[in-house]
Amino acid sequence: MTDTPAKPVLLTGASGALGRMLARSLGALGWKLVLTDIAPFPDPLPDGATFTRADLQDGVAILRLAEGCGTIVHMGGVSVERPFEEVIGPNIRGLYHVYEAARREKARMIFASSNHSIGFYERTESIGADTQFLPDGYYGLSKAYGELMGRMYWFKHGVESVNIRIGSATPEPVNARMLASWMSYPDLARLIERCVLTPKVGCSVAWGVSANARMTWWRDDARDALGWAPQDSADPFTAQLAGVVSGDPVEERYMGGAYCSIGYSRDQPAPRGLFGETDD
Ligand SMILES: NC(=O)c1ccc[n+]([C@@H]2O[C@H](COP(=O)([O-])OP(=O)(O)OC[C@H]3O[C@@H](n4cnc5c(N)ncnc54)[C@H](O)[C@@H]3O)[C@@H](O)[C@H]2O)c1
Repeated sequence: MTDTPAKPVLLTGASGALGRMLARSLGALGWKLVLTDIAPFPDPLPDGATFTRADLQDGVAILRLAEGCGTIVHMGGVSVERPFEEVIGPNIRGLYHVYEAARREKARMIFASSNHSIGFYERTESIGADTQFLPDGYYGLSKAYGELMGRMYWFKHGVESVNIRIGSATPEPVNARMLASWMSYPDLARLIERCVLTPKVGCSVAWGVSANARMTWWRDDARDALGWAPQDSADPFTAQLAGVVSGDPVEERYMGGAYCSIGYSRDQPAPRGLFGETDD
């Protein structure tokens, strides 16, 4: 028998791929869920859950939805690389509304950050969770900003947060990159469960990735403090996927993969790391 949070959990982005999976798995634990999304919820509601359609850009609606909630699992927003003007509303203004709601309710934030906040590190590198952000586009930049917002709300207001830098959370890995970056749905659901139930989390970062042999990129995060370890692995897909590469040198060089090549206009690759020697 698992523990149940004392207060309801607000889940944004409930109608999205990960939101639907979490609504199902957290609902099955008997947790009281307050679901919201701008899109209709396509599944039967879990027992005891409510669903309200709302735009993250509507601050009053978000404050109301968070009333009485002890945790906000924030999955909503633009989830792929898009032009700046499309990202800024849901992912920056919307995130501010969610953090304001967390502050008002003294609720904890679980933020769906992304590997794209550090996407321009090379795949031959190994980085700890406290390494500088190196976003690979406007989407990744919004995730880095979101993590920084978490730090500000922790130091200024005592709002706790766990920032999960999700790798590739899909039902199955589909290419060679995902042999490193893949996270299974059950591993993500178990991590979210620990993020909600762990008594104190401060402002922490967890790499959202399964136990893949090729995952040499990311280390030193809050998993031990959270009492979480991944149980699944992309390794059984190695033979099938090792050759599934794009042929694009920018995409294959960096951790962020295809997002790094979107709109890329350098003639030569940047020097390795953030403070590498200049190539000019
Ligand atoms: N799936 C992954 O591999 C992955 C990797 C890294 C990070 N993430 C992050 O995890 C979260 C969930 O990802 P997903 O794959 O389920 O994405 P998704 O696109 O399927 O879900 C996002 C949801 O947010 C909702 N949304 C968008 N704009 C909104 C707005 N203005 N107001 C309210 N709701 C809005 C959408 O309707 C959608 O249902 C996202 O924040 C994403 O950036 C996912």
